[in-house]
Formats: sequence, structure tokens, C-alpha cells
Amino acid sequence: MTSLVQGVHHITLCPGGAQQDIDFFTQILGQRLVKQTVLMDGNIPIYHFYYGNADADVGSIATCFPYSRKPGRAGSGQLSCTSYTVPNGAIAFWKEHFDRHRAEHSGVQERFGTKYLRVRHPVGLLFEMIEESGDNRNPWTTTQIPRDAGTRGFFGAVLSVRDVRDQESFFVDALGFRKVGVDGPYHRFEVPGTGPGRIVDLHVEPERAPGSWGFGAGTAHHIAFNVETDDALVKQKAVYEEMGFTDASEIKDRFYFHSMYVRSPGGILVECTANVPGGFFKDEAPDELGTKLLLPPWFEDQRNAIVSQLEPITVPEENRPRQETTSAPRPVVAAHTTPGNEPTVPLSRYKATFDADKQTT
Ligand SMILES: [Fe+2]
Repeated sequence: MTSLVQGVHHITLCPGGAQQDIDFFTQILGQRLVKQTVLMDGNIPIYHFYYGNADADVGSIATCFPYSRKPGRAGSGQLSCTSYTVPNGAIAFWKEHFDRHRAEHSGVQERFGTKYLRVRHPVGLLFEMIEESGDNRNPWTTTQIPRDAGTRGFFGAVLSVRDVRDQESFFVDALGFRKVGVDGPYHRFEVPGTGPGRIVDLHVEPERAPGSWGFGAGTAHHIAFNVETDDALVKQKAVYEEMGFTDASEIKDRFYFHSMYVRSPGGILVECTANVPGGFFKDEAPDELGTKLLLPPWFEDQRNAIVSQLEPITVPEENRPRQETTSAPRPVVAAHTTPGNEPTVPLSRYKATFDADKQTT
């Protein structure tokens, strides 16, 4: 089939504490905090942080709901590792860097003939650095992480499944991936096309107990794939329904993009995402990304109730944009828009009520 999917758009995780998460992403993984906003589902204010490369490229964005109010259960049926590309030869740097910060890591490993190194977030989430040449995306740098080692963006992700068959069929028949190889328990799939961020590895773990599906600290929540237009979201939803996946969601207005979700057969929640004009730059200048809490316009009238229930945070000074680390971003433009940028399909927005008096933690 022709794939509507173009590659990974973002990966969404549930860490625990907000400050702990910011410190890990910015100082250990060397990511740029590119957006501070809030979760748009439900009536409880939860931060939504976006971390990415220097240009906040689609395909480099890990997003986090710090969910310290409830632990999750890691297991099969979940995204189990978020994979970043680093330049050939950079693994040695990362091993030293993780050792210096006493971050728990796997040591250098190899699959599909490529070196990688895994590191553990304090809440248990796993990330890996995979060496690959030719990824020219612009890395964020810090005083400790130089340009020749920094992460370029996503290589892809590892998803844990107990049985590969139906999840394989979902990726091939519903999303248009092709299977490119098997290495032990890992089955590799790739979106046709060029450029980085097109890999998914299914890790077959038949004995691993299923993980939790809802929001909970220490678990991945979903993986999102980029599609070109809102119309492609409608078409992808029809593909799901034709195959019997009638639980595909409505198309949701996430302000920075439009989203449609479905629960895949192995248990992993899969989102498809269409960009809107401006993307992450629609409400912040390139050199100010991530410096303050931004809300979608339809939440602004509840700003005080939201802020009063959020953990105060401090962004490390060295993560703030500086002249030498901020470049002109690639413009994010939706490929198909109306003259006034009105959406071309009906969009769903939840109008939450963040009433501080009703929250009981
Ligand atoms: Fe998402």
C-alpha cells in the first residue's frame, strides 16, 4: 500500500516529577526544552513539556506528561525505548557522559550491526543513542555536550510486544511500513522514503507482563507518526476502520498539530499527526522557545487555576537559547491549508474545567 505516514513525529512519555524530568532531558540527554504547556485531556492540570533538537524539528520531539500523582506499570504493549541518532563514534562520549552523571546505562550493545547505548531516566523510562552517519539535523548543544556528539533527532523507537504477528500486520497493512529485517528478538520496520526517523523495532517479549495503558509515571503513553495533511488523517482513520479498528479517535486540535489515535493490536497507542502552519513557532519566537508556560487560547481564561496546581520549575540556565545554539528553523507549514488557515476537517477540542477547589490529588 501507499503509506500516508512519513516517519516519527513525536513520542510521548509519562515521567514523574516535573523538575526531575527537565533536569534529565536537558542535562543528561542534552535536549532543548522547546515548549512548556499543559495536557489538553481531562480536568487536572498536568504539564506537557516538549523537548527536541536545536530546530525543534518534527521527528526530534519527546513530549512528557510529568504524572507524579500516579505510578504506571512498565511492560509489554508499550513503547519500551526512545531511540536517538548520534554521529558515528559518539557512543564513547555518551558512555563517559552518563558515567559522569551516574546515570544508569547498558554499556555499548549492538543490533542490526549498529552500536547503541541505553540510559535510564530516574523514573525508569529508557532512551538509547544509536550511531548513524549522514543525519544532518541540527543538534542542541550544552556546555557538556558538543555538536559532534549531540543527538540529531529520533532514529525511531522500540516497542515491546508479546506476539509479533498482529502488530506486524498493523504496521505493514495499516500504516504502510515495510519489514526490513530480524535480529534475534527484534523485528525492524521502516517507513518507505528517505531521511531519518523512519524506524520501528518490535521487541518480541512473550513472557513480559502487559504494561498499563493509562497515564502513569514510568511508562510511555504513545508514539505519533507524521502525515502530510488533515485530509491524510481522515484517510488514515478510514484505513483503520476498514480493517476493523473502529476505536480510532476523532481528530483532535492539539494547537501545534492535529491528532488522531488508535490502540494497535499489540497494545501500543498510535497517533497520526498533521502539522499546522507555524508548528511550535506559532506562539514563540525561535530564540524564546520553551522559556515560559504557554496555554492553548481556549485555556487562557483558566490560567490562574492551572498555574496554582502545577509544580514550580526552573529551566537550567544553560538550556536557555543562546546565539550560538539557535538557528533559523525550517518553517513548519501544513501542506494543505485553506486561505485563512481554517481547518479542512472537523476538529475536537475538550473544554476542561481546572477548578482548584475540586482537586483532591
Ligand atoms: Fe501525541
